[in-house]
Amino acid sequence: METRAEFATYPSLRDRVVVITGGASGIGEAIVEAFAANQSRVAFLDLQVEAGEQLVARLKNAGASEPVFVRCDLTDIEALQEAVRGILEQFGAIDALVNNAANDTRHSVDEVTPELWERTMAVNLRHQFFMAQAVIPVMKQAGRGSIINMSSISWMVPSTGLPVYVTAKAAVVGMTRTLAHELGRHNIRVNAVLPGAIMTERQKRLWYTEEYKAEILAAQALKRFILPEEVARLILFLAADDSSAITSQSYVIDAGWV
Ligand SMILES: NC(=O)c1ccc[n+]([C@@H]2O[C@H](COP(=O)([O-])OP(=O)(O)OC[C@H]3O[C@@H](n4cnc5c(N)ncnc54)[C@H](O)[C@@H]3O)[C@@H](O)[C@H]2O)c1
Repeated sequence: METRAEFATYPSLRDRVVVITGGASGIGEAIVEAFAANQSRVAFLDLQVEAGEQLVARLKNAGASEPVFVRCDLTDIEALQEAVRGILEQFGAIDALVNNAANDTRHSVDEVTPELWERTMAVNLRHQFFMAQAVIPVMKQAGRGSIINMSSISWMVPSTGLPVYVTAKAAVVGMTRTLAHELGRHNIRVNAVLPGAIMTERQKRLWYTEEYKAEILAAQALKRFILPEEVARLILFLAADDSSAITSQSYVIDAGWV
């Protein structure tokens, strides 16, 4: 009997080297899985060792291409640069970068100290720039590349309770646009993805009260929750040659909230 895949797979992603930050859990895990299913050569960076190793083992057993997990604290720029050097030594190329890692720990305006500001920016914004900086030389050499930066709709809709995170996520869009123009002449594309409320394990555990769930469904056009794999499918497209003329753009994926 003929078997038919439910969703698109991208021939251009086969054997491409894709680096994903924050790939051990949440949306990042779904992104790692999606690229592995497309037979890309995947390296992912994360702090969470157990979750990272479990993901590698799970994909190995599933017959997808086996990703490489690199333990790295992305707030440590030297460690991040070292991790990219290691990936390059192993794979010899980097074709796509997905800047996904973040931390949406809640904080009030009152409690923001200069130290909390720096820490929150370091985990939500700074590493995206330095990861891009680290992969740009090899992408220039190859004459192509796709960089995808995770932003959020949190700066476009009324949001409270995490002002520095929201500020960082707005900055991701500005950074995306200027990098697209810096790098376009080298055929390196840079785009941002702005998720709405995505139902990850962490979100469910920490924030999905009955009240918040009702708020999400009232705000969205689609009356259901969005899953991490739905975000991953947009990212596949932006990394694949199918999106070859798309750069400097921001894609909202929020079930019709904005
Ligand atoms: N889930 C949502 O509803 C939602 C909404 C809007 C935007 N986003 C964005 O999507 C991306 C993924 O979100 P998520 O919900 O999957 O987040 P998450 O918190 O569930 O996962 C983030 C991953 O990044 C890793 N990470 C965090 N700090 C790190 C560090 N210093 N070094 C290395 N790894 C680190 C974590 O270990 C984790 O695996 C983020 O950029 C987030 O801002 C998510």
